[in-house]
Amino acid sequence: MSDAKRKIIVGITGASGAVYALRTIRALLQWGVEVHLIVSDYGAYVVESETDLAMKGGNLLELLRAKFGDADLTGDIVRYSNKDLAASISSGSFHTDGMIVVPCSMKTLAGIAHGITGSLIERAADVTLKEGRKLVLVPRETPLNKIHLKNMLAAADAGANILPAMPAFYQKPETITDLADFVAGRILALFGIESKLFEPWQR
Ligand SMILES: Cc1cc2nc3c(=O)[nH]c(=O)nc-3n(C[C@H](O)[C@H](O)[C@H](O)COP(=O)(O)O)c2cc1C
Repeated sequence: MSDAKRKIIVGITGASGAVYALRTIRALLQWGVEVHLIVSDYGAYVVESETDLAMKGGNLLELLRAKFGDADLTGDIVRYSNKDLAASISSGSFHTDGMIVVPCSMKTLAGIAHGITGSLIERAADVTLKEGRKLVLVPRETPLNKIHLKNMLAAADAGANILPAMPAFYQKPETITDLADFVAGRILALFGIESKLFEPWQR
């Protein structure tokens, strides 16, 4: 597995489904991707309440290596504060291969859809769109109101890929990890990475 030169921004926000973020980051690291990671305050809260991963303190890459002892994680993680609007990834001149917001809260979706740029996640997403790079949003909320739906349409109109956290069941998942890997695999596929995290449907 090698893709050492890729740089992908990952934003984790305060929607349920931290496992989707962790399995996506694991897969990116397996492919040697340099992950530029931003975690919102509520993103950290949800990760810590839904998993055993401590988001504050400690080297996140080492924590992930320990958590996913099965995986050969050759990539790297560069971490940013969501409040740091002067970070390198706040500028279009810092080249990346795109950005994933996983899971994406309805609040951050609204901010991105309306170009608010009040946090680094929103700013980096805005920059990703203005530079014509790939932006994948993984919204998680149910049921959806009309505001959520309109914001998804606005983001899609601006060029974002909307990839809802909706695992399929035709691959006969046995674990939560199987379900999360289906979503992670679909995300990576949008970046042209054939991760083999899920079995494509075959008749
Ligand atoms: C335990 C927990 C679960 C949440 N789940 C969701 C969710 O699935 N989807 C969502 O849009 N917001 C959810 N929220 C609300 C967001 O965390 C909240 O709107 C927050 O302001 C999002 O901020 P952020 O986008 O900066 O992370 C949840 C909050 C908590 C505390």
